[in-house]
Amino acid sequence: MNYSDIRLAIANWYALNGRHDLPWRRTDDPYRIYISEMMLQQTQVKTVLERFYGPFLERFPTLQSVADASLDDLLHAWQGLGYYRRARYIHETAKRCAPDLPTEPEALMKLPGIGKSTAHAIAAFAAHRPVAVLDANVRRILHRFFAQKSRSEKILWNLAETLLDRTNPYTYNQAMMDIGATVCLPKAPLCGRCPLATRCRGKSDPLAYPAPAQKKRRPIKHQIYLWVEKQGKILMQKRKGEMLGGLWELPAVEKAPSEGKKVAEVVHDYTHFRRIAEIYEVKEEKGVEGEWLGKADLRDIALSSLERKIFEKLHFTL
Ligand code: ADE
Repeated sequence: MNYSDIRLAIANWYALNGRHDLPWRRTDDPYRIYISEMMLQQTQVKTVLERFYGPFLERFPTLQSVADASLDDLLHAWQGLGYYRRARYIHETAKRCAPDLPTEPEALMKLPGIGKSTAHAIAAFAAHRPVAVLDANVRRILHRFFAQKSRSEKILWNLAETLLDRTNPYTYNQAMMDIGATVCLPKAPLCGRCPLATRCRGKSDPLAYPAPAQKKRRPIKHQIYLWVEKQGKILMQKRKGEMLGGLWELPAVEKAPSEGKKVAEVVHDYTHFRRIAEIYEVKEEKGVEGEWLGKADLRDIALSSLERKIFEKLHFTL
């Protein structure tokens, strides 16, 4: 099948309707493009744009500056973005690659936190390599355009490569992301404005593609935390391990303390589970390790969003 008419329509659509002002589209610096793609993996364009991209690059203008920084500094700049392992991956990547990030898809894919789609995005945007991006928005377009119900990775990559405009990979991939974000919407697609509509096989029933996924309930995990405050300082611990490792939290304990009073309950949703945090105020911290941190210290370290919610609930403003 020849899709040259659709590729042309996509390029024309992008010239008129593309989000050309996004700052990561106004640079050809692989590092700046890489940071945008890492942030956009799990965070919406609006949030990245308004709160994180500019300040992060001001603090870390080059890959070398990341390699020279401590992980704590990086986590601090990442604070609030969530999925903190991304900050660790960026640190590791910088240590391995500084001063220059590679732009070949194969080399990129060997780096931590860079899957095939992110590697292709960086390679297409920083070096105009003829490779296809396959993020959630592009997936939805392909499901509908080819009336494909299956969610098989192999099938979708095949479709992505079938439609890819190899002579214009930069424009094509940016355009597909924009069409996914602004036209081929999940619940109410605007087919009248879509450059792919002339040959979209799913157009008569777009919501049927892909086949609806079984809804999974998020499991609930309970956790008890201690609130110990002495002379304006709070007892805090640094988390270990993969999940949120390196971030600071209140001391986590197995059982509710017998001499404590429950002062707050906070619910926080992660991708794969819901955390219900119960906070007990205690006067003594018997057997609990940690560091006493005042407000100035707390402002200076990386806290998770859950910790921020807890502080807010307890009217402990930082
Ligand atoms: N999401 C991931 N990469 C993106 C990009 N380059 N532009 C807009 N949204 C994106």
